[in-house]
Amino acid sequence: QELKLNLEQIEKGGYEHFMLKEIFEQPKSILDTMRGRLLADEGIIKMAGIWDHLERLTNAERIIIIACGTSWHAGLIGEYLIEEFARVPVEVEYASEFRYRNPIISSKDVVIAISQSGETADTMAAIKLAKEKGAFVFGICNVVDSSISRYTDAGAYTHAGPEIGVASTKAFTAQLTILSLIAIKLGNHNGNLGKADFMRLITELEAIPKKVEDVLKTVDEAVKTIAKKFADATNFLYLGRGYNFPAALEGALKLKEISYIHAEGYPAAEMKHGPIALIDENMPIVIIAPKVGHYDKIVSNVQEIKARKGQVIAIINKGDTQVAAMADYIIEIPETSECFSPILASVPLQLLSYYIAVERGANVDQPRNLAKSVTVE
Ligand code: G6P
Repeated sequence: QELKLNLEQIEKGGYEHFMLKEIFEQPKSILDTMRGRLLADEGIIKMAGIWDHLERLTNAERIIIIACGTSWHAGLIGEYLIEEFARVPVEVEYASEFRYRNPIISSKDVVIAISQSGETADTMAAIKLAKEKGAFVFGICNVVDSSISRYTDAGAYTHAGPEIGVASTKAFTAQLTILSLIAIKLGNHNGNLGKADFMRLITELEAIPKKVEDVLKTVDEAVKTIAKKFADATNFLYLGRGYNFPAALEGALKLKEISYIHAEGYPAAEMKHGPIALIDENMPIVIIAPKVGHYDKIVSNVQEIKARKGQVIAIINKGDTQVAAMADYIIEIPETSECFSPILASVPLQLLSYYIAVERGANVDQPRNLAKSVTVE
């Protein structure tokens, strides 16, 4: 027993929990996922899984992304990426819904299945169905040689390394990295993404691991302060627009999973169609507000929240003054293009859920009722 405990200490590498270790590993796990694939200086994205099936992928009339949980959130961001850069229509579905609703699939469709474990029962069943109907199935898995990675027609591994904490962190940002590479590569190949934009994007993507490192070095104190302040909250709202709408969903999921606080993610503009009724001085609202996309609209959303005395925790770019002036708490992240901003915004959201869970004395790595991989329905 003692030996087992010691081993676990070593595996945690000096961190109190696997989840914290995995959050801090992200500069490396993102880099590992890009390694050998993103050659920014040469202006090349090399991915054997894509290259070997490039025609099949670029000729897809439609791409359907299927996944569960956190991987489904990555899929939503994948939809924005692929539609923006490759201009191929994308649908994102929960594997559990897809498999039981007699979906319309044909051999002209490409299905991208995303799964950290590569063992999720619903995702596997959805893949089988898609294959039966003639679709080409591409897998994005983290666990090498997992069932899904073996069963799919082609794929690309996220090289995030083993993820032990039940709440997914580094696998999620690795999934976003792979989806960025795929979208940019397809766009470059099918002519929708010009050379200059292609070069700009891959240069920015290459800079992401360093920026994640900067986030990890700088946000810890601010996040801990916020966690202490709101550890007893009973509800949280997470808001974002565009690429950061799915990041808001993921932020809310992380909080629910490990701290057992009810949290909802919403596209910021939908606030007025319901959640605004919940806002009062007791409601903490996390708003992802980097200076990209429709920043001015986010500014108005913050004004609407403050008019109702909600507590605003804003994730903003360094040097932002407009949202900073209205927010109760700020967390600063470096600038990047909108399409990569969910990677940077997710890191402080992971830390926020982590520190709140620790404040509440919750079992961070093994939250109640949850499993790392769900191999039954
Ligand atoms: C479980 C895990 C989540 C994960 C989901 C999908 O619910 O607790 O962290 O996002 O399954 O798992 P997968 O391995 O398919 O990505």
